[in-house]
Amino acid sequence: MSEVLHTHWKSPSNIALIKYWGKTGHQIPCNPSLSITLDQAHTDTRIEALPKQGDFPEPELYFEGKRNLPFETKILGFFQQISERLPVVTSHKLLIHSENSFPHSAGIASSASAMSALALGLCELQRQLDGGARDAAFFALASDIARLGSGSASRSVYGGLVSWGKHADLPESSDEVAAPLPFEVHEVFTKLHDDILILDRSPKKVSSRAGHGLMKGNLFSEVRFKQAHQHFSELLEALKTGDWDRFIAITESEALSLHAMMLTSNPPYLLIQPETVKIIKELQDFRQQSGLPVCFTLDAGPNVHLIYPDTCREKVQELLSMWQNDSSFSFEVLPDVMGKGPICLK
Ligand code: PMV
Repeated sequence: MSEVLHTHWKSPSNIALIKYWGKTGHQIPCNPSLSITLDQAHTDTRIEALPKQGDFPEPELYFEGKRNLPFETKILGFFQQISERLPVVTSHKLLIHSENSFPHSAGIASSASAMSALALGLCELQRQLDGGARDAAFFALASDIARLGSGSASRSVYGGLVSWGKHADLPESSDEVAAPLPFEVHEVFTKLHDDILILDRSPKKVSSRAGHGLMKGNLFSEVRFKQAHQHFSELLEALKTGDWDRFIAITESEALSLHAMMLTSNPPYLLIQPETVKIIKELQDFRQQSGLPVCFTLDAGPNVHLIYPDTCREKVQELLSMWQNDSSFSFEVLPDVMGKGPICLK
């Protein structure tokens, strides 16, 4: 095949409700996770594939218009891992152009959207060479490939509520590929919001990769993995029955447990900030007073995600405007909602 190939995918980020924290082997999670795929926060990746000689990958990576050598080195290692399954990464020179919809260094983890967009693009190029449909097997392969780039990226290949990792309550679940929940969730969970409160734009002091690694020496890790399994069961039940109280209790406990794992690592470290705690406490007071089902979750950083149903939109907006007019708060908001998953633009 001597043709030049093209592909263009837009893939969203996601926020985990049940957190993946700790891995083994080749990106095998130590516990199952469950996330909401976002809509607005996404990565746009175009790939041009030029036929070449030799069997060594030669990616060229442009991030937001500029060649990015550190990313390129990372991607080279990734391509070497996947070249048997996707020979297009060695048979072609790949020119990759990637852009994020969210502001640069907004403090949002971009690996889920970036690696899922890249994995989908690579699977698409291979599909153009081999034929075949963009069917369930195509997306399962993309999820598996995305996982090898970044665990959480495996979930971004699908829209809505997505799980990844083996759990007894979902017989089809797998440690290699993510999948949308195999049942209809209760209608109260069909239109979810995630307002991301950006408190700090600086890069993380401890990378996720290092954080996962530190779970190996964490005295509490086995208990944490058990807790995640238990929370996963309970969250499935809450999603089926429409139980917001249970959803809130589990989601907030998961966020705090993630950060508790950081506090109990060796060496310990702290990614939340005083402002994170202030917002959490104010939010919990607001919930108690208003009776509205709005809760928080955290990623591996200080920023706070507010999760709530569409029915609370106006009230939460009022709350956020009030906080933003109060000089004791300082944050920017990136409003987002649960989305339908990646889109192929070419
Ligand atoms: O996908 P990674 O290796 O960047 O790890 C992501 C870990 C968390 O974002 C903290 C939790 C999760 O499940 O997304």
